Amino acid sequence: MDQIPSYVTSLPDGTDTGLYLAVDLGGTNLRVCSVDLHGDTTFSIEQLKAAIPPEIMVAKTFSELFSFIVTRLHAFLETHHAEYAHIDLVSESKSRLLLGFTFSFAFEQSALNRGSLMRWTKGFNIPDAIGQDICSVFQAEIDKRNIPVTVAALVNDTVGTLLARSYTSPGTTTTLLGAIFGTGTNGAYVERLENITKLNPSRDGIMVVNTEWGSFDNELMVLPNTPYDKAVDIESIHPGIQMFEKRISGMYLGEILRHAILSMVSSTSEISPESRLNQQFAIDSSFLSMAAAEDSPDFVVLRFQLSHHFGIDADLDTAEGVKVLALAIGKRAARLAGVAIAGVVLKSGRLEAPKKVDVESGVSRRHRGFWASLFESFRNFVGRWSGWLLRSKIEVHEDVIDIGVDGSLIEFYPGFEDTIRSTLRDIHAIGLAGERRIRIGIAKDGSGIGAALVARMAGIELERAL
Ligand code: GLC
Repeated sequence: MDQIPSYVTSLPDGTDTGLYLAVDLGGTNLRVCSVDLHGDTTFSIEQLKAAIPPEIMVAKTFSELFSFIVTRLHAFLETHHAEYAHIDLVSESKSRLLLGFTFSFAFEQSALNRGSLMRWTKGFNIPDAIGQDICSVFQAEIDKRNIPVTVAALVNDTVGTLLARSYTSPGTTTTLLGAIFGTGTNGAYVERLENITKLNPSRDGIMVVNTEWGSFDNELMVLPNTPYDKAVDIESIHPGIQMFEKRISGMYLGEILRHAILSMVSSTSEISPESRLNQQFAIDSSFLSMAAAEDSPDFVVLRFQLSHHFGIDADLDTAEGVKVLALAIGKRAARLAGVAIAGVVLKSGRLEAPKKVDVESGVSRRHRGFWASLFESFRNFVGRWSGWLLRSKIEVHEDVIDIGVDGSLIEFYPGFEDTIRSTLRDIHAIGLAGERRIRIGIAKDGSGIGAALVARMAGIELERAL
């Protein structure tokens, strides 16, 4: 896997403040937001959302994509922050607004605000973008229109999700992993700098690493490969890559189902050549979620949807078959998602070193003095025999491993998180005890908030450098 250093070397603890812009270019939508960080783990957000037109995803030039984005950015500023819509409007007391750009693709990063695209994934393909400095192209389009905004940071959506979760997450635990299970799938986690050997680290500390796990096992040495997976891959615009993603994420699961239904139905009944079912991407992941959740009598809802969308007059058996397929495809995806999460949790070593905290004093046990440790050992010994420990005021709890997630599948596919959890339990090195320590929380639209947080980090670095 790529394991890309993000240059983010600290995690927010909820105390950051200020107004920042964020532009979030995902696989399907563009979001422009302004985030006002309140410094008490809360924030307020204004946003504009637009679907990305298919022709923009395959535009001729990278600038064309940014021209589309800057038009939306300008419209957003006019509505919500008119004083920043044009350079002439900015009063002397106000400087330029800092913007964090969430770019949900694989890019090689060399600083918080510098990175170049390695490859397109999902539905995008703009060949002239490869290798260009992303922030410079974006900034050039902003400057052309005299908008007083500086692109201060470039962030992968998983990094943004991790930071947003860390800013808002309950308690003092810092988040280990940010993961997306949406149009694409990927995860970013906290690694010790000394382990990131490609950076020749000369100091201690941490850095967030973007794994790009969607491209795990492109050689298919361990991943399952059905005839439907093969068909999905061959027809995709990026055949041979993102093989893990093609078995997990929302962009492809409907396609797997479509190919499976086509092979199933053609032997039992007719599908008209005009049926939309013959078109690539005719089934999206919301259909898959609906089919998996179907429990109406005689499958009436699913049969209506099959007839309404695809002109298929499904009998009971066919409808049941479609449900079974949707369940199998979703379950396989969630189990593979669980494997990715487990890999990061195990690699982090956090399971092996449970930090026990004295709830009464908040002191970590590892830092207790000799006499306190001796006293506690004595109480443990006595307590074991008398049950006294259970009534004792000194309770211990083990460290939580916090994970932030976002994306349409984890949000809407029925039981996606439950299946991830059962997978974690099934993995020996984690088991029931380990799984209980893993807290998974939705960081809704976290990538935008995360981008604002990195823009703030970059702003502080800039100030220091001046
Ligand atoms: C794709 C991209 C990756 C992104 C993920 C989720 O896998 O390559 O960068 O994080 O989709 O949006």
